[in-house]
Amino acid sequence: MMPSNPGDPQTATTHHLVKGEDLNHHQTLYAGRCVEWCVQIAYITAESCFDEARPLVFMSVRSLSMRTPARVGDILEYTGTVDYIGDSTIGVRVDAKITQPKTDPKIVATGTFLFCTVDSEGRAASHGLPALKNGNRPAQERWVRSIEEERRSVPL
Ligand SMILES: CC(C)(COP(=O)(O)OP(=O)(O)OC[C@H]1O[C@@H](n2cnc3c(N)ncnc32)[C@H](O)[C@@H]1OP(=O)(O)O)[C@@H](O)C(=O)NCCC(=O)NCCS
Repeated sequence: MMPSNPGDPQTATTHHLVKGEDLNHHQTLYAGRCVEWCVQIAYITAESCFDEARPLVFMSVRSLSMRTPARVGDILEYTGTVDYIGDSTIGVRVDAKITQPKTDPKIVATGTFLFCTVDSEGRAASHGLPALKNGNRPAQERWVRSIEEERRSVPL
């Protein structure tokens, strides 16, 4: 995992080697495994916002798109970037790509994932994080819209 530069949105990167056990019946990367790896790096990215471990729970997959099939032996790079900060919520965008050939990296998947900090009783608790310094306003607005839409249609 690589640390972020000061002032940049929090990011984290990890790699996975695609093995036989990660394949589906098409002999390509199984979507369920890809999602597992996405959620894992998204969680690591969100948790990396804190100097000390904070209880953080997964809330939802906001979006997920599989773009290019990956095959056995491919090395995948998963990068998480914080692109939404709420009061108790943290939204992370994940981009996964095949690392080789380096001149033509193929995007395997992109997705957005929402987490929430909780207290010792498991209730939502303010995380106190500052607003994103280099916040991407359109991304922030997309998050707010999608969260509002979901709250209207599927109240938790
Ligand atoms: C996460 C959880 C504590 C939130 O509880 P809640 O009662 O919805 O909390 P609140 O209504 O106080 O809302 C907390 C935040 O969630 C957001 N939220 C609530 N409902 C939402 C929805 N349907 N969609 C998106 N965001 C939502 C609120 O906007 C608020 O965000 P903010 O504090 O950043 O402004 C609760 O839903 C939960 O425990 N879920 C299960 C988590 C889990 O088991 N994960 C798997 C294991 S890690």
